[in-house]
Amino acid sequence: MAATVNVNGRISGERDAVISVFDHGFVYGEGVYETLRTYDGRLFLYDRHMRRLRNSARMIELELPFTDEGLHDQISDTIGAANLGTREAYVRVLVTRGVGDLTYNLNATPKPSVVIIAKPLPDQPAEIYEKGVKVALVDVVRNHPQSVNPMIKSNNLMNSALAAQQAFKRGAFEAVMRNYRGELTECATANLFVVKDSTVRTPPLESGLLPGITREIVLEIGSELGIQMSERVLRDGDLLDADEAFLTSTTREVLPITAVDERTIGTGEPGPVAHKLMQGLRGRARAL
Ligand SMILES: Cc1ncc(COP(=O)(O)O)c(C=O)c1O
Repeated sequence: MAATVNVNGRISGERDAVISVFDHGFVYGEGVYETLRTYDGRLFLYDRHMRRLRNSARMIELELPFTDEGLHDQISDTIGAANLGTREAYVRVLVTRGVGDLTYNLNATPKPSVVIIAKPLPDQPAEIYEKGVKVALVDVVRNHPQSVNPMIKSNNLMNSALAAQQAFKRGAFEAVMRNYRGELTECATANLFVVKDSTVRTPPLESGLLPGITREIVLEIGSELGIQMSERVLRDGDLLDADEAFLTSTTREVLPITAVDERTIGTGEPGPVAHKLMQGLRGRARAL
């Protein structure tokens, strides 16, 4: 279904949403973004997404031209114009350096561009939750933190695109990337968790990865449920020999991983810990 788009305050259908080819988001990939969703029509964990957006912007010296409340109003107006009925919304907020001369000098782009895309949240196929998915351990290395730091939710997604495309070629649903030290980091569009002896482990931010909002809330919910949750450096063997593995993201929530390339993980079926965390996450989302 078509998207509704807000470009610098002007809401239109997707065909009429335009941005200059001289926008530095287009020519240089300079910008940051967030992906949010609604539950029961309400934006989930908005404050946390705003905190991360502000942090991403700070890390590239981009001043966000709105308050959290102001942006919330713009998002609500855009969702309203999308006429979603009872369907949940997928929302992507992008902020770029804006339009200016073709130079890296920040003085060239005094006015950031702000784009909000709202559309119905795509339904995930039930099968991927019932059977779990296969991921590929790809040879694309996650960005070095002193290059394009993975902490920045950057519009420049070449690193993730190349990893995901390699995974798709290998018939996998997602890619798992290592860092330059060979430690596991995350997937192309999601964070990675493994379960061993009832303990849930996920790579620490120091391994170089996006601080996922779902990762953060799942760590909290797991602890509240009495599950042992830990952030720990993980290597290939931790994934390959896991009892369970799963990935997390705003749109996929908690998705079981049942194979890594040709290797079966655990029993080859989605595991009970991922299921419990998914229930906990959905419970939290509906309760807020
Ligand atoms: C590289 C990467 N890691 C992790 C995530 C998951 O983050 P979140 O849970 O905030 O959606 C995403 C989401 O798009 C991502 O692109």
